[in-house]
Amino acid sequence: MTADLQSDTAVLDRAPAVPSSGFKPLPMPDLEYTPGLAKEMAPYYERVKNVIPSIEWPFFAPYVKAINDLKKERNAVILAHNYMTPEIFHCVGDIVGDSLQLAREAATADADVIIQCGVHFMAETAKLLSPHKTVLIPDADAGCSLAESITGADIRLLREKHPGVPVVTYVNTSADVKAETDICCTSSNAVQVVESLGVPEVLFLPDEFLALNIARQTNVKIISYKGRCEVHERFTPEELREYRAAHPGISIIAHPECPPEVLDEADFSGSTSGMINWVKTNLPKKVMMVTECSMSDNVAAEVPDVDFIRPCNLCPHMKRITLPKILDSLLYMKDEVVVDPTIAPRARAAVERMINLPL
Ligand code: 13P
Ligand code: SF4
Repeated sequence: MTADLQSDTAVLDRAPAVPSSGFKPLPMPDLEYTPGLAKEMAPYYERVKNVIPSIEWPFFAPYVKAINDLKKERNAVILAHNYMTPEIFHCVGDIVGDSLQLAREAATADADVIIQCGVHFMAETAKLLSPHKTVLIPDADAGCSLAESITGADIRLLREKHPGVPVVTYVNTSADVKAETDICCTSSNAVQVVESLGVPEVLFLPDEFLALNIARQTNVKIISYKGRCEVHERFTPEELREYRAAHPGISIIAHPECPPEVLDEADFSGSTSGMINWVKTNLPKKVMMVTECSMSDNVAAEVPDVDFIRPCNLCPHMKRITLPKILDSLLYMKDEVVVDPTIAPRARAAVERMINLPL
């Protein structure tokens, strides 16, 4: 990043985003499920009827209506990660996708307010790329075991140990870590980002399994760290073999945060959106998505003829985001995500280097 751009973005970070304290709370809308509301919300139920039992819809429908109405009032846009539950993903999300897609969209979203339905590092990334917008997360405690596995100080130590070796960090990290990083990557572009540096070795942090998985796809030497995703590390190759034996002909697709031996048992591996596209393109008779389990529900809602076998590992952090909390975000403009202005320009540069790669 040039000195000029750096100082521009530093000014942006110091300038208050429209502060949440400057917004008036809105009155709590009526959340009664009336026949009129049922009729109005019927097109939304159509989107999720394969995965949400009709007995549950009267609870969700009033929230879906209230949230969609309030979004207009606040000029807000909802970014929803692929791991959100179907009533969020299909009924209130404006922009849905994997980490890379959400980061790109955050940069261009035409709204005053971004509500990040995902985990905290995703909201921070949105704030870095949209410093002039108000970014809210419905539950500020929605963390990530990978993001918690490493700090900026750890990276400084690693740099001392490996002088001159560039640092690539997974976007699943805090802004503090991104600020110590040369370039970020996501699971959908990790190999290309590593190779874009044109060097013989890189520090690839913090996901140990993603590092091992990409090391198999490149000649660049990958120095890894000990971070793990608490959801994906639990899958085992034995479990996958058992599912294959029990369901002859099944397609098994896995996220690259899984151990390499798990990927060895899979027919395809890719980012969350890569996995979704694989199912939509190949329309297998039976599939198992080896990842967080809400994703199978979200795809199943769109491809009713595919039979999903669900090994259900939930991400407890993603599951903190619910419709009532999204409504609270819109009503009370909380929780606002801020990034320390002393680190934001460097963290932003690492994310922008990734986004600006011609991939
Ligand atoms: P994606 O970038 O593939 O969406 O992954 C994010 C994540 O947190 C997976 O656990
Ligand atoms: Fe983090 Fe794993 Fe949850 Fe993704 S699934 S947010 S990597 S803990």
